[in-house]
Amino acid sequence: MAELEQRGERTPVPSKWEYASAPESREIVRLEERYGLFIGGEFVEPRSEEYYETLDPSSEERLAEIPQAGPEDVALAVATAREAYENGWSAASPAERAKYLFRVARILQERSREFAVLESLNGGKPIRESRDVDLPLAAAHFFYYAGWADKLEYAFPHRRPRPLGVAGQIIPWNFPLLMLAWKIAPALAAGNTVVLKPAETTPLSALLFCDVLRQAELPAGVVNIITGDGATGAALVKSEVDKVAFTGSTEVGKAIQRELAGTGKKLTLELGGKAANIIFDDCALDQAVEGIVNGIYFNQGHVCCAGSRLLVQESIYEPLIEKLKRRLTTLRVGDPLDKNTDVGAINSRQQLEKIEELVAAGKEEGAEIYQPPCRLPEKGYWFVPTVFTNVAQSYRIAQEEIFGPVLSVLTFRTPDEAVEKANNTPYGLSAGVWTEKGSRILWMAQRLEAGVIWANTYNRFDPASPFGGYKESGFGREGGRHGLEPYLDFREDSTEVIGG
Ligand code: NAI
Ligand code: MG
Repeated sequence: MAELEQRGERTPVPSKWEYASAPESREIVRLEERYGLFIGGEFVEPRSEEYYETLDPSSEERLAEIPQAGPEDVALAVATAREAYENGWSAASPAERAKYLFRVARILQERSREFAVLESLNGGKPIRESRDVDLPLAAAHFFYYAGWADKLEYAFPHRRPRPLGVAGQIIPWNFPLLMLAWKIAPALAAGNTVVLKPAETTPLSALLFCDVLRQAELPAGVVNIITGDGATGAALVKSEVDKVAFTGSTEVGKAIQRELAGTGKKLTLELGGKAANIIFDDCALDQAVEGIVNGIYFNQGHVCCAGSRLLVQESIYEPLIEKLKRRLTTLRVGDPLDKNTDVGAINSRQQLEKIEELVAAGKEEGAEIYQPPCRLPEKGYWFVPTVFTNVAQSYRIAQEEIFGPVLSVLTFRTPDEAVEKANNTPYGLSAGVWTEKGSRILWMAQRLEAGVIWANTYNRFDPASPFGGYKESGFGREGGRHGLEPYLDFREDSTEVIGG
């Protein structure tokens, strides 16, 4: 410890550095006063005649008026998607479908700056992340599934893959455009048409995406985008769709599963998480600190696979926490459009209140809180990056998904204990393991109940790699060849029967 402190003194502490602000210009984004629903290739006024306001969460500035689609609007969108499916899209040649997906991917790349600024404006995430993560990954997803569109027989040899029909897709607000890409790309590659509902707080990038679809000359009605809150989502689930794909809270996921039970509609659920990020004493400590920070403070912790429970081997507990706290003082919290910002705004007042409630519970239950000194903007929704130590497994902050920049630290002595603690959760989406030993990584990976396990890294995504959960984190996989399967019907298949 003493040695570490000495080294610490010799290292310049970057929190003392002065940063000039480096804001990305908003000029590139043109907002409409009021948007329509994108149905049949056109923006149409909602039959519900209802609208709500969407905000910039970093300033609470009103950005635009958004339709709140009602049941009639949902029915119209689904009927339009059905017509597009029956009158052309399902019979289009696979190479033709691929052509449109390639076009979408390229246009997203060409317009990536515009999309990145809009994503940060409407969602609060740092421009560095929307520019370097959300946009490249969204385009990559379309490229990847464009490649499969005319190779489905090779993806599923000896089976007869056919499209399902109309897919109803509901996405959350933490990665608005990326989740749209995860949903739309495989659905279209498999030959389905789509009705997609973005989250109520972050509709703008999905609405701008409609412009990309027109630019790509995608046939009208193949993709329809309807905006609104949970009531719109519930109406979409109840509608005449053939498949529902949902990403969001476990609570809503369960309600959707109950609703669809016995209907024969296919369902995939990608829900919450409470991932363990497990640090062994033989790991590269400084790298691990970067991985911990990326694991929980990336996107303000609004990440289903966030490494929100840190499990540290006891022998390195003190130096690790010391390094972590010091690193926290260097994180820059503030304007999402500033290129120096590491942690942006919390997505909504509702989410901020949830984080505040759980943090208060953590303090009350007896955990020790650390927050670096940090000046927050006066307007907007903000939360200081937070670490809780002295956390018991039973505390709410160790059990419940906080979905904010809040880390709960627990300790372990042996690999067995690490596995037991890591799996002590109703969730099972992801995990991280930090150790020098390859054999230990494999040993851990076999025992951890998690869909994705990162070793000596965290929050890495690739369209070729399947993503999804165990237990209450949901079922079905997105990404990779696996991600096509939920959008295909193999029923008259001689070798295997899938679906309801
Ligand atoms: P939510 O699950 O209510 O919202 C996600 C999407 O589902 C939105 O598009 C919403 O409009 C829609 N929705 C809401 N109720 C619905 C219903 N009854 N039927 C159909 N669709 C419905 O999540 P919310 O309330 O925004 O966040 C609550 C918590 O959920 C967060 O604090 C976080 O813990 C978790 N969450 C997890 C996500 C993930 O990526 N796994 C994403 C968003 C939230
Ligand atoms: Mg909700």
